[in-house]
Amino acid sequence: MEAKKPYLFVFIVYIANLLGSIYYYIFGRNFYSFNVGYILNSLTAEEKEYVMNDNVILENLNRISVDLAAVKKPLSFSGEYFMTRGFIEQIKNRVAFENYLKQNPDILNVKIKDPVFFITLPRTGSTFLHCLLKEDPSWFAPRIWMQKSHFPSPSNPYSEKDMEIINKNRDEVIYFQSLTDWNVLSKAHLVSERDPEDLLIQLEPLGINAAASWLFGMEDYNKFIATLPLEKWSEVMKKLKVMFQCLMKNYPSTRLLSMSHIFCVNVESIYETFPDAKFVIIHRDPVKSVSSLSSLVRSLRKLWYNGETEKESYSYFTRINGEISYQMDKYLKFRTKMEEMGKSDLFVDVSFKNLVKDPIACVQDLYGKLGKKWTKEAEEKLKYFIENQTEHKTASHKYKITEDMQNYTKDLFKSYCERFKEFL
Ligand SMILES: *[C@@H]1O[C@H](CO)[C@@H](O)[C@H](O)[C@H]1NC(C)=O
Ligand SMILES: *[C@@H]1O[C@H](CO)[C@@H](O)[C@H](O)[C@H]1NC(C)=O
Repeated sequence: MEAKKPYLFVFIVYIANLLGSIYYYIFGRNFYSFNVGYILNSLTAEEKEYVMNDNVILENLNRISVDLAAVKKPLSFSGEYFMTRGFIEQIKNRVAFENYLKQNPDILNVKIKDPVFFITLPRTGSTFLHCLLKEDPSWFAPRIWMQKSHFPSPSNPYSEKDMEIINKNRDEVIYFQSLTDWNVLSKAHLVSERDPEDLLIQLEPLGINAAASWLFGMEDYNKFIATLPLEKWSEVMKKLKVMFQCLMKNYPSTRLLSMSHIFCVNVESIYETFPDAKFVIIHRDPVKSVSSLSSLVRSLRKLWYNGETEKESYSYFTRINGEISYQMDKYLKFRTKMEEMGKSDLFVDVSFKNLVKDPIACVQDLYGKLGKKWTKEAEEKLKYFIENQTEHKTASHKYKITEDMQNYTKDLFKSYCERFKEFL
């Protein structure tokens, strides 16, 4: 289905941001800014208590608030507004989920067996592969509408209530995307509410805003996310597990498939929570992967910031390089530790080049490594998707990478490239 850009909505936001900029110009501050007090005051007593008792969420909110005020470039009016509303809704939704859980305690008995997590470099075809595999009904890849709503457990097949939630999410996804760089996104990464998305959507209501970390360039907040101790991550992962259990309740014979990126999650904490999980990584030349992410970040930032010059946009190249390579080193350390314990079969490697060249052969090979049966049904569905889908084509990014920048990335990812050169 072709998504139409909602021009009226975009126009209204444009005018609001224009007025917001004039206000900023005159008064030297934003008309509306993200602050924890306002968020807490928008909550019911029960919701407030929940936030107060959850140290990950509260600390996360406080840090974002302080750091946002400190970044040099202020958010646009709509950026502040959507960010604030987003947090309020997430907290409300989270508390409602806890109450739903109390009424449906059997959710805690749902088994999650042999889940698969794609934890990979950015811009490696991970979204394409994730969306491709969802076509095989023996996987359970939580779709955006499920990732955002958490509950009730989706019926099998979808009920009328599910359809209502799906439709509500369709509008939200389109509105969200319309405020980013639609032209770039419609080539590179336009998603629908029925596509599965990055795990980071499910982590946000739990107090981990990895996207805010790499999108906004808040140095202290980045450090906070990057160095969050394993115990805190594990606390979050336990809650995430319950969210998966709720979603999969009516799909008992399927296998969980989730996707995220090396700089958005902590792999070790996933392993602790799901000891029978497997981790798939797609390898691609980091020079291409990182520069492509920098270009995507520029497109996405339009949602939160008024126009940025090309020069400004290059400032996040270094930052993104630093964040990803730091997390890559952590991943490699964990992987080496597990391999030394004789658990190298936890990890499965996929080459981006092979994925692009022959996706079906690549997936067939992957199924073998994941101990999953390759069926005629899966083959037909996957082939149909590859031939007929229009999104997720590799877009040529317009990010000029000088030799200097290439060398910078190569240097940071040296040990990664040496270790996985056969896949690059
Ligand atoms: C693509 O879609 C067309 C029309 O629905 C269908 O005839 C064709 O078989 C599809 N391609 C594959 C590989 O299934
Ligand atoms: C980049 O690295 C290559 C190979 O090490 C070197 O020959 C080249 O001079 C470097 N370029 C810059 C601009 O530093």
